[in-house]
Amino acid sequence: MDSESSLLEERQQRLASLRSEVAACRRCAIGYTRTQAVCGVGSPRSPLVIVGEGPGENEDRQGEPFVGRAGELLNKMLAAIDLRREDVYITNTIKSRATVEENGRVFNRAPTPDEMANCREYLDRELAIIEPRIILALGAPAAKSFLGRDFSITRQRGIWYAGPGGADLMVTFHPAYVLRLTGGNINAVKRLVWSDLLAVRHKLDEVTAQRGAKDAQMPASAPEPDALSFDFR
Ligand code: URA
Repeated sequence: MDSESSLLEERQQRLASLRSEVAACRRCAIGYTRTQAVCGVGSPRSPLVIVGEGPGENEDRQGEPFVGRAGELLNKMLAAIDLRREDVYITNTIKSRATVEENGRVFNRAPTPDEMANCREYLDRELAIIEPRIILALGAPAAKSFLGRDFSITRQRGIWYAGPGGADLMVTFHPAYVLRLTGGNINAVKRLVWSDLLAVRHKLDEVTAQRGAKDAQMPASAPEPDALSFDFR
């Protein structure tokens, strides 16, 4: 077996054992109400890790992050920079669906600081296994988990920060937020997201060039910025 295959196999094994630990985890009350725990998916050799907030209803049912409407938009955002979902590693700050019950109905809610703290070890271990060069945090909760409670997404997205393990970290708006927008704001926000995506793609191309195309495990082609791409095609 060549060194690339054995590295891949080793990472797959470490991720599988982390997944079984998370499946048995009951540190929080939501560990008892979830259908199943949702760990990351994608390429264990990806230089890019995408971190969202936490699983919603669809993710809880299917056991995979970003499979609902926000996931569809995330797939389009990735396609707009010539990436497929399976080229990158996609995970969340928490691994169980956080819910609230109102009038007999169950809704998603943002994770509490305690839930994020309890799950942090699992996110850190995913990052330690994948060793990404770039982390893209989606939305304020994911951003705050890396950059502190005072992080302001409107003022501080689109900037490179020093992330865990020496990775470059950028924050952009969460696709679920983009989907909730109405009126004139939509295109303005999409343009901001598009400029963040282009910055990520350019950084990836730099990383790919440094590692060598074979090693980087990443399709190498920066998209031409065109007027429509911010609409995520
Ligand atoms: N939103 C997230 O932050 N994560 C998911 O997995 C799905 C929706």
